[in-house]
Amino acid sequence: MKGSLSLKFILLLVLLFASTCSQDCSAADTVSITNPLQDSETIFSSDLTFKLGFFSPGNTTNRYVGIMFTDPKATVVWVANRDKPLTDSSGVLTVLADGNLAVLNGKKEILWSSNAPNPVANSTAQLLDDGNLVLSDNSNGKSVWESFQNPTDCFLRTMRIGEVANRSIQLTSWRSPSDPSIGNFSLGVNHGGIPELFAWNRGVLYWRSGPWNGNMFIGIPASNAKYTIRYDFVRDDAGTTYFTYNYINTTVLLFYELSSSGEILEKELNDNGDWNISFSFVRSECDEYGKCGPNGRCDPHASPICYCLKGFEPRDKQEWSKGSWRGGCTRKAPLQCERNNSVGEGDGYLRLTTVKVPDLSNFIGTSQEDCGNDCLKNCICSAYTYVVGIGCLHWNDSLIDIQQFSSYGADLYIRMASSELDHAKSKQKKKAVVAITVSAGCLLLASFFLWNWCTKHRGRGKEAELALMEPGEAWKTEIRTSNSYANPKLEELPLYDYETLAIATESFASKNKLGQGGFGPVYKGKLSNGSEVAVKRLSNSSSQGLQEFMNEVSVISKLQHRNLVRLLGCCIEKEEKMLVYEYMPNTSLDAYIFDLRKQKLLDWNRRCMIVEGIGRGLLYLHRDSRLRIIHRDLKASNILLDEELNPKISDFGLARIFGGKQDQANTSRVVGTYGYMAPEYAMRGEFSEKSDVYSFGVLLLEIISGRRNASFYHDEEILTLLGYVTFH
Ligand SMILES: *[C@@H]1O[C@H](CO)[C@@H](O)[C@H](O)[C@H]1NC(C)=O
Ligand SMILES: *[C@@H]1O[C@H](CO)[C@@H](O)[C@H](O)[C@H]1NC(C)=O
Ligand SMILES: *[C@@H]1O[C@H](CO)[C@@H](O)[C@H](O)[C@H]1NC(C)=O
Ligand SMILES: *[C@@H]1O[C@H](CO)[C@@H](O)[C@H](O)[C@H]1NC(C)=O
Ligand SMILES: *[C@@H]1O[C@H](CO)[C@@H](O)[C@H](O)[C@H]1NC(C)=O
Ligand SMILES: *[C@@H]1O[C@H](CO)[C@@H](O)[C@H](O)[C@H]1NC(C)=O
Ligand SMILES: *[C@@H]1O[C@H](CO)[C@@H](O)[C@H](O)[C@H]1NC(C)=O
Ligand SMILES: *[C@@H]1O[C@H](CO)[C@@H](O)[C@H](O)[C@H]1NC(C)=O
Repeated sequence: MKGSLSLKFILLLVLLFASTCSQDCSAADTVSITNPLQDSETIFSSDLTFKLGFFSPGNTTNRYVGIMFTDPKATVVWVANRDKPLTDSSGVLTVLADGNLAVLNGKKEILWSSNAPNPVANSTAQLLDDGNLVLSDNSNGKSVWESFQNPTDCFLRTMRIGEVANRSIQLTSWRSPSDPSIGNFSLGVNHGGIPELFAWNRGVLYWRSGPWNGNMFIGIPASNAKYTIRYDFVRDDAGTTYFTYNYINTTVLLFYELSSSGEILEKELNDNGDWNISFSFVRSECDEYGKCGPNGRCDPHASPICYCLKGFEPRDKQEWSKGSWRGGCTRKAPLQCERNNSVGEGDGYLRLTTVKVPDLSNFIGTSQEDCGNDCLKNCICSAYTYVVGIGCLHWNDSLIDIQQFSSYGADLYIRMASSELDHAKSKQKKKAVVAITVSAGCLLLASFFLWNWCTKHRGRGKEAELALMEPGEAWKTEIRTSNSYANPKLEELPLYDYETLAIATESFASKNKLGQGGFGPVYKGKLSNGSEVAVKRLSNSSSQGLQEFMNEVSVISKLQHRNLVRLLGCCIEKEEKMLVYEYMPNTSLDAYIFDLRKQKLLDWNRRCMIVEGIGRGLLYLHRDSRLRIIHRDLKASNILLDEELNPKISDFGLARIFGGKQDQANTSRVVGTYGYMAPEYAMRGEFSEKSDVYSFGVLLLEIISGRRNASFYHDEEILTLLGYVTFH
């Protein structure tokens, strides 16, 4: 669909060009001293995507020189004389004797000049295919000035915003849709710290993207991720720091605009040749910087949207209740950081999950283990996080601009006096907290302890905190006090009780059954708050199933990636063991690719994105997560699809975690699905990253062909898709 779209667009452009180009079109993309541009003239980039000419915005009669898309509405992406309009059509864009590009009026007065830092006498301006107008030295072709380094309100592909060659490059909004002069809003990157985008209203920060983790911004939901676009944040020691993007494949055409009302928009060309707003970065009030003040948390789905972090209370209760939240919150109990934290009651941490982390972080170059411990040792440190792709971050004092997401984001550990932690616990009638740490030991003994505890504490507490270290081997339980919150390795997982899940799934009614996972049936459920979940129930208490269950909990609770299914919690009560996942409305990939009717919903573009998504998920498991994980059971039915058909790898019951240097392991118990297993694994039990890659290859062939690997039984000689591919 998208492919035909761009073709259509090109055709449109050619037609347009043919109709506009009645003048001399030989030097169609340059302006020079001998070849000035009059008001009636237009030049085009060589691929006809952009044009340079005169225009009147909105309902005005003012004339401006600008770069426009060649779409029917001639969408303006850059303006030269934005502050000094021409009042008639006598204007001209030309190169002056000093080599600068300039807009002159009828009286030959200079309304705008490129003001190149080092102009050269003999130069030519050329409009390039990416929309950049480049003034270059005729003698050596070197660029002396570029419109991309002097942008107005649009961010086009390959453009760089940030600090380049000691110059700050920012977007600035128009004053109004009919006035391109500099408006109230600007957008750029920060100077130091973790790379991030910021937008200002008359110099006052009103939006931030959240830190860049190497792939995405923590504060921008990943649901907007475009696999056809590659984003880059570059920062080097020479002081260059910029953000840029480009198309991986030009089947989409899009750009970003800072509108005159301060919206940050992504606009994508649709079938009608209109620039449709495909995303708006300031979506809710919670995207406004510091909406809830210091130590407040903003959740667009809550009412009211602002609330104080746990252990904090409004600084001014009256103002807060009236809905003016900017004053923020203060701690109920002061930190006891001056006391020795290795003995007695030190401070601990409270974990917030899936948040946009606060502004003004300090990058600390320590390991994940030391990140939390170091924070406790530093009196000024009020919170920490450890984000894959960034590392350890600490915060001084107030935490400003925290937004709660329902998924993605990062985890934030907020330092808290231990009295507050105890308080928070007792309030929720939590008498004991169990931490399960895996270490060498006996699985059955461990599960005995676990059941024992569950039986005793049934119905008392809603959350158990699971600290998981080495999974798959064996389990050990221990009663943990609030002091051990300081251990940054801890992972917390909400515990659901049996009744809740039974009600949610209507007593595991067969009509709610979604399918069969690795170790038991999966049911669709609806929690009392209305959110939909998938509940996977361990079918019997065989040690096999239990081991896979524990394995899955330990593997997936440590991972976060947009191409991995997300674990929301678990239930361990008596004989019942269940895992609660986000619900995937589009079920799994096999339901699409092998279904003749649904197959049609997956065009090539979509299939490509699915393959890339699976690849990204796998890369994360193998290389980018802090563990090295071999999935061992990658197949179409283990790839779930969310509402936008983004793939998510699921079912980690058989996954294995590799140590840092380990490349290969051996198992006497070959598990997985025949047809997807690499030969060396199926035959000799050897597995490594390569086994997953093999399965990925089989999956790839299935996605392309729409046939199951094992669907060739009727053929005489060929048993599998792999055989078929080899033979043909
Ligand atoms: C131009 O005028 C029309 C009709 O008067 C109005 O609907 C439109 O909003 C105006 N456009 C701008 C950009 O002011
Ligand atoms: C400008 O440069 C071009 C190409 O190098 C050359 O042909 C032309 O004579 C030069 N003009 C002047 C005025 O130097
Ligand atoms: C930027 O400025 C710094 C210090 O003023 C200087 O050392 C450096 O060379 C400059 N870089 C460029 C590309 O001009
Ligand atoms: C882009 O897509 C076209 C068809 O849609 C394909 O022919 C081309 O190989 C793709 N290019 C890249 C770099 O993926
Ligand atoms: C820009 O700021 C001025 C002064 O605060 C205000 O009057 C004007 O309405 C603002 N414009 C927009 C589009 O917000
Ligand atoms: C325009 O964008 C909206 C999202 O902002 C989307 O729902 C709609 O389908 C898009 N329309 C077209 C024609 O692409
Ligand atoms: C912490 O305790 C150790 C030994 O118990 C002592 O040497 C040290 O001075 C104490 N530090 C503080 C900040 O009280
Ligand atoms: C936090 O405090 C440290 C130590 O006082 C200081 O070096 C750092 O600049 C502060 N960071 C911020 C973001 O204020």
